[in-house]
Amino acid sequence: MSEGLTRQLLDAESRGSAYEHAIRQTPVSPLPLFQGDGTPVFIPSGQVSVRDETIGSVLPGLMSHCQRWEPTGARRVFTGKRVAVLFSGGPASGGHNVVAGLLDQLKGNELWGVRQGPQGLLRGDLFPIDLATRSSWVNTGGFDWLGSDRTKIKTPEQLATVCEVVRRHQLDGLVVIGGDDSNTNAAFLADALQAVGCSVVGVPKTIDGDLQWGEDVPISFGFDTATKIYSELVGNVLQDARSSGKYWHIIKLMGRSASHVALEVALQTHPPITLISEEVAANGDSLSALMEDLADQVVRRAQKGYGYGVMVLPEGVIESVGELKTLVASLNHLMATHHDELQGLSLTDRVTRMGEWLPSSQVTLLRELPDAIATQLLKDRDSHGNIQVSQIPTETLFVAWLTRILSQRTLPPGFVFQPIHHFFGYEGRCGAPTRFDAVYGYNLGCVAAALVLNGATGVMASVGQFQADWQVAGLPLVAMLSPEKRGSEVSWVIEKSLVSLGSPAFRYFASRRQVWCDTDAFSSVGPRQWTGELAYEYPISVALNHALPSLQWREPACVLPSRS
Ligand code: FBP
Repeated sequence: MSEGLTRQLLDAESRGSAYEHAIRQTPVSPLPLFQGDGTPVFIPSGQVSVRDETIGSVLPGLMSHCQRWEPTGARRVFTGKRVAVLFSGGPASGGHNVVAGLLDQLKGNELWGVRQGPQGLLRGDLFPIDLATRSSWVNTGGFDWLGSDRTKIKTPEQLATVCEVVRRHQLDGLVVIGGDDSNTNAAFLADALQAVGCSVVGVPKTIDGDLQWGEDVPISFGFDTATKIYSELVGNVLQDARSSGKYWHIIKLMGRSASHVALEVALQTHPPITLISEEVAANGDSLSALMEDLADQVVRRAQKGYGYGVMVLPEGVIESVGELKTLVASLNHLMATHHDELQGLSLTDRVTRMGEWLPSSQVTLLRELPDAIATQLLKDRDSHGNIQVSQIPTETLFVAWLTRILSQRTLPPGFVFQPIHHFFGYEGRCGAPTRFDAVYGYNLGCVAAALVLNGATGVMASVGQFQADWQVAGLPLVAMLSPEKRGSEVSWVIEKSLVSLGSPAFRYFASRRQVWCDTDAFSSVGPRQWTGELAYEYPISVALNHALPSLQWREPACVLPSRS
């Protein structure tokens, strides 16, 4: 082997692939507001109304912080503050850039990383983030710079532990990078940490796209990368389906209860069939009616000469179909109210025990479900009460059911239903961020740093108003909370943003899908790009829902912030 080639291969082992090396060196643009010396001054710019007045009795300390924060145009140099940052929940690409943005805006102050999310915060597991390490992480995917977990900090004892950790580390601020549940947690932490003078700022993250707040939070970081990765994969499968001409691919996509991911991938790739859980729930169809309808479409497509295809399922669809929706709701309730009694029981014993509380029709349904699905439905929920839909092999249920129905039908001559199932989930969460997520995440970090330095607390960092060249703000978390029944208790949560059937994105999809089913009008979008025109495309659903004039976004002129 030549010396040059050996060096290249060994370099790739020590510093990552040529691709990683190249994008780590690509500068990320701060918005004009964050260019130059000092930090923009943010001040409260107006009271925001809460969604439900009774929140005042739950988080009284935050009611005086129910204000929107905006930049004034002035700048100030802040020094000597200590700020900690943590990731919470599932990874999303762009997270490392949030930390890089924080680091750059906090110059003259200290940034501490919390290892392993909320769990690490409870343990007081913090480490100083050194500016010298920034170049190894910027523009890379994943959450491994800090680590993450899904612990919900909810009890008074846990909140007291966090206060103690904050006091011990003399923190002036804590930045929580997370989804709807984690930002809900951030509101409760903000309330508790007022006692120790520590600001708490949330940053909207999740690939699911279900954390949105009007024009101010049009989307969370991570969604663009995940959907572009899934779109590439689905596009490849569509291409394979047509090339080999014999398979139906049933593809489950991550995204939890909301179908934003499936909708975006459908808009990008135009598969013959895409289910949207919110529509399935609204139609109220039973599982068998839904399957009969899907079988009709498969046959109709075969009659038109297409004996193959791709069917996209959102992972939460299992929670949306008629009788399954009711079953999941009952199980969620029972798991919460009988948590202790169910601990340690085998699957069979759990079904038997549940049988004593569930109506007989639901027991029958539970017994009829494939074991792999029943097992997941009966597993413990995560600490926020969520069912782990990513672990439920819904795609196999669809394959089995459709195979059974179609075996009883008279099919067009020569057509044989040959299904293959896939789950695209973890493939999309940690890929190198798209340019959008890199720039968006970076600037969210800059906003979060500025908010903490200016003393804002109980707010979410926002980079929004895409139609007006990306405006920034701090949004009061308390104004986002609504009461929700989870199990037997009422919890205050940031409501998940589901796909609205009246939204422009859904209506556009609905107007096109029959054409996509009756033809081969699919798009194979290819890999995501970092340079050239294709590097600057918003997600289609975001462009449609926010009435943007085009898919193109513009990167702010890049002036790297000076660092001390
Ligand atoms: P967040 O809500 O924490 O952003 O996580 C999103 C998600 O990727 C979902 O799409 C998926 O259902 C879930 O995480 C999987 O969780 P886990 O990583 O615990 O398997």
